Amino acid sequence: MQTKKLTIAIDGFSSCGKSTLAKELASRLQYIFIDSGAMYRTVTLFCLRNNWISGDQIQITEIINALSSISIEFKIDDQGNKSIYLNGENCENEIRQGHVASSVSRIAEIREVREKLVLEQQKMGEKGGIVMDGRDIGTVVFPHADLKLFVTASIEVRTQRRFLELTQKGIEITLEEVKDNLVERDFIDSNRKESPLVQAEDAVLLDNSTMTREEQLQWVLELVVSKVRSS
Ligand code: DC
Repeated sequence: MQTKKLTIAIDGFSSCGKSTLAKELASRLQYIFIDSGAMYRTVTLFCLRNNWISGDQIQITEIINALSSISIEFKIDDQGNKSIYLNGENCENEIRQGHVASSVSRIAEIREVREKLVLEQQKMGEKGGIVMDGRDIGTVVFPHADLKLFVTASIEVRTQRRFLELTQKGIEITLEEVKDNLVERDFIDSNRKESPLVQAEDAVLLDNSTMTREEQLQWVLELVVSKVRSS
């Protein structure tokens, strides 16, 4: 018997382990994994390279006019690693750098940017069998997702996790800088006019502050099994 391929939406605050969970879940279920935050970061990188972001000043008209010339793709290499490409160039590492992280929430506030990326995300999920993580996946991108999770963890735990992730990649940053960036991004993401970060009414809350990666994965896999059984 063919089991139904679910659409799984994972939303939550910055650095609460959404992408790690989504990636592991997709790999276990043999589903597609999409990190939607990487798409917002890629548009931000394009804007930074064109000098359309300087401090608080953002050249919105230039950005909107250029949206049709931005092509974003995910590709998998021979080792099975997935990377994001901006107009044919692998920019997976560059989009994780501090200059992108500190501007991305501002770019993610622009309605036209969101409209373009949401359409692309919906296309990627057309056939189901997808795990996508972000801020508006269960509310806007896939409002009819089979399973919605809203992930959170304490700010201390999130700061520590992001700090480790960045320093392991050789990025120089202090704990204080990481924390400030997370607090600022959470504030902007939760208070913006366009698709703010909110827990969908039908989303299951997952606080993973004291959970290991494996415990969290098992917890979610049990939910998936019960969804598959009931669908
Ligand atoms: O998940 P992340 O930290 O890589 O996301 C980067 C930024 O992109 C985050 O500050 C908010 C924004 N974002 C969004 O607005 N909507 C999404 N679906 C995903 C990310």
